[in-house]
Amino acid sequence: MKPSLFFAPFLLFMLTTQSFYSSVTAATIDDFVYDIAGKKVVNGGVPYYIGPVEWAKGGGVKLINKKCPLNAIQDPKEVTKGDSFLFVLNAYNQTFLRLSYPLGVQLSKKSANQNGKCKGMTYLKIDDAQAKPPSNLVTSDGLFERAVSCFQFVEYPKPTSAKVKSYLLQLCPTFCGAGPDGCFNVSTYVDNGTRYLASRGTPLEIVFKKASA
Ligand SMILES: *[C@@H]1O[C@H](CO)[C@@H](O)[C@H](O)[C@H]1NC(C)=O
Ligand SMILES: *[C@@H]1O[C@H](CO)[C@@H](O)[C@H](O)[C@H]1NC(C)=O
Ligand SMILES: *[C@@H]1O[C@H](CO)[C@@H](O)[C@H](O)[C@H]1NC(C)=O
Repeated sequence: MKPSLFFAPFLLFMLTTQSFYSSVTAATIDDFVYDIAGKKVVNGGVPYYIGPVEWAKGGGVKLINKKCPLNAIQDPKEVTKGDSFLFVLNAYNQTFLRLSYPLGVQLSKKSANQNGKCKGMTYLKIDDAQAKPPSNLVTSDGLFERAVSCFQFVEYPKPTSAKVKSYLLQLCPTFCGAGPDGCFNVSTYVDNGTRYLASRGTPLEIVFKKASA
């Protein structure tokens, strides 16, 4: 009896640590990005709305202005979903988005058509993330895979809700080979009552909702 009594706690310890490590590994491997329906966000091709984690904190992201480039803002009305966007990973042949992979954020065809004059250069960009507004505002008219349009998604450090995965959009110019070191949180910067997206301000905790194509 003595040997089994001795081994029993050890075995239990082994089993507990084993499952502890495998669950940690599983959590680390799951670096997909999820929408509010709990589905993996698709790389390219599928449009999504970008909204605040609590829709009570305003509406979705949309582009405004009378001429190019358009400014990205957060709609003040919580019922407004905003424009829809495609997320396109830069160099990786992946079906789904992954955390911390460089990507472009492109205005969907449908939203680009609604915005009329600014067709063509539809990727979001920040001309100078280290500058003051208006140079550090998020605008349209970017090209794919440039330092000024080199974004990534990371998990929001302290999510508001345990049930919904929320994220930060960051601009990381050096990931595309130029510009200042480090990443810049896409944040809201309020000017004259308008919540512009910019490289500085209040970091915007976002979620994704699939839009109809
Ligand atoms: C990308 O992946 C798809 C399916 O996984 C495959 O059919 C295709 O050949 C790949 N393309 C490249 C350039 O690796
Ligand atoms: C981005 O925002 C998060 C959440 O507020 C914060 O913890 C983090 O330090 C910020 N990172 C940068 C590079 O500003
Ligand atoms: C701020 O908004 C008010 C009301 O919409 C407008 O009349 C004014 O011209 C704006 N000021 C600036 C600096 O844009």
